[in-house]
Amino acid sequence: NSFEFIETTTQGAIGTIELNRPKVLNALNTKMISEIVQAMEGFDKDDNIRVIVLSGKGRAFAAGADIDEMANASAMDLELLNQFVDWDRLALIKKPIIGAVHGFALGGAFELALCCDLLFAAEDAEFGFPEVNLGVMPGAGGTQRLTKLVGKTKAMEWLFTGKRITAKEALHYGIINQTFSKELLFEETYKFAEQLAKQAPISIRLIKESVLKAIDHSIYEGMQFERKNFYLLFSSEDQKEGMKAFIEKRQPQFKGK
Ligand code: HXC
Repeated sequence: NSFEFIETTTQGAIGTIELNRPKVLNALNTKMISEIVQAMEGFDKDDNIRVIVLSGKGRAFAAGADIDEMANASAMDLELLNQFVDWDRLALIKKPIIGAVHGFALGGAFELALCCDLLFAAEDAEFGFPEVNLGVMPGAGGTQRLTKLVGKTKAMEWLFTGKRITAKEALHYGIINQTFSKELLFEETYKFAEQLAKQAPISIRLIKESVLKAIDHSIYEGMQFERKNFYLLFSSEDQKEGMKAFIEKRQPQFKGK
């Protein structure tokens, strides 16, 4: 583990990235984001890894972008820093990413959570965009991803007020997939990740790509894309194996080819 602000581990087919700056509630500085992206890309290229899990060490997932780092920045400093290049790369990760959130996921950390494909949260988790209280606004996709996810009504309310969203509300509005007690969050996340790792990898890959397309494009454009991916799956060995196994009434052996 050669990273300064994150820790990576692997367990079978699951690659885990833990935010590791617990003294400042894992405040995301630019180097941490760039390390997260590097680690994700590493797992994405690693044939042994099928699922990526993202979580935070200490008492929170993360309390947002590092305010100390931004406080004195000018618009030109930020333009030249060009930190969002790293965030854009996150959206290109092909393997499924599961976020396991406990404690706070605020500001940039909520945006990071919204980049995950599935989100599990501890009952104590709190999401929110407090940027408005700092005289700024989300900058890493928050206004776009939250609005697409929950619609204009709640997005405006939450972004205008900076009010925190409890795990229960997040579940109600479809921001997260499931809540667990704090004690069970990681165990349950890994259980799910292990199941996900057994699914046909190319199907998962192209489903992820197609679903993300749906968020970005019109239904018509999205469906043209979906169709190409659907056809593409019929050139895989796993499709032949999956359908053959069904006909032969046995479990398929997927190879990810
Ligand atoms: C830098 C932070 C931080 C942050 C917490 N800390 N959040 N440092 N940036 N975002 C530090 C505190 O200064 C403190 O350091 C230590 O972490 C523990 O935090 P406390 O405040 O003492 O903990 P607590 O009283 O439990 O309050 C937790 C909290 C509060 C409610 C989450 O820390 C808070 O409001 N944090 C800021 C949340 C926020 O506004 N996030 C959005 C940032 S803007 P010391 O040294 O005093 O112990 C953003 C824009 C994204 O994310 C743009 C795109 C990237």
